[in-house]
Amino acid sequence: MTDALHRELLQLAQEAARRAGELLRDGRPADLAVARTKSSPIDVVTEMDIAAEKLITDLISGRRPDDGFLGEEGASSEGTSGIRWVIDPLDGTVNYLYGLPTWAVSIAAERDGETVAGVVAAPMRGETYHAVRGGGAWATGAWEGERALACRPAPPLDQALVSTGFNYVAEVRTHQAEVAGRLIPLLRDVRRSGSAAVDLCDVACGRLDGYYERGLNAWDFAAGDLIAREAGALVGGRPGERPSRDLTVAGSPGVFEPLQGLLEEFGAWHD
Ligand code: IPD
Ligand code: CA
Ligand code: CA
Repeated sequence: MTDALHRELLQLAQEAARRAGELLRDGRPADLAVARTKSSPIDVVTEMDIAAEKLITDLISGRRPDDGFLGEEGASSEGTSGIRWVIDPLDGTVNYLYGLPTWAVSIAAERDGETVAGVVAAPMRGETYHAVRGGGAWATGAWEGERALACRPAPPLDQALVSTGFNYVAEVRTHQAEVAGRLIPLLRDVRRSGSAAVDLCDVACGRLDGYYERGLNAWDFAAGDLIAREAGALVGGRPGERPSRDLTVAGSPGVFEPLQGLLEEFGAWHD
C-alpha cells in the first residue's frame, strides 16, 4: 500500500516537472547564454535553469507552504512539515546550452529524509518517468497510459552497457578518465549522456545495464535513484553505503555488484 500523501506529492511533482519542462523546451532563447559559473568555468548556469527552479518552487510552495526545499540553483529552506523537495530544475545544462536533446527536470519529495516520490521529465524524448516508494516505476510518453518500468536482465559484466559522467573540476575528471580507462576493457561499452537523472532512468527502462559517477549532488540523483530502485535495479554508493558525492552506482542485480566491486578496487571515489 502506498500512502495517499505520497501519491499527492507525486502528482504535485508531475505537474511541476511538466510545467518546467514546457518552459525549458518552448522558452529556450535562440541566443541562450551563460548567466554565471559555479565550481569551474565550465560548470555553467543559464537564465533558464534559474527560471525553471523558480517556477517549480513557486508552484510547490503555493500549494504546500510548510515544506522545505533543496534546489540546485539556491532554493534552500527547512520547512516544518517533514517533507523536503530536492530539485534539479535542469539536469544536463551543457546539453541544453548546445541544443542537444538529453536533459531533464528532476524533482523528488523526501519524507523524514527518505525519498517517497520522484519524477524525471525528459521533454525532448517526450517521456516522463515516475515512482512512489513501494509502487513500482512508470513512464508516460507518446503511448496511451502508463508503462511499467523494469531494469534489464543482467548480462555478464563483459557484455554490460554502462553509462558514466565526468565532473566539472579538471582534476576530478582526470581521475575519472583513469578509472573509466580501466573499466572499458571489462565492459561491452560505455556511454556519457550528460544527464545523471536520465542515466538512472535509462537503467530503470532497461536501456542501460549500469551507471556510475563520482561527484553527484542529491539533486542529481534523488528522483532517479527511487525510479531505478522501483524498477528493480540496485542503487548505492561505496559498498554498504547509499549514493553520495563520493560515488553513485546503479545497475540490474547481477551487474551492480561486480561493477561496485571494481569501482571500489579502482578507488573511483577519490583521487
Ligand atoms: C550534471 C549532469 C551530468 C553529470 C554532472 C552533473 P547539471 O548536472 O547530470 O550528466 O555528469 O556530474 O553535474 O550540471 O547539468 O545539472
Ligand atoms: Ca544536475
Ligand atoms: Ca542542473
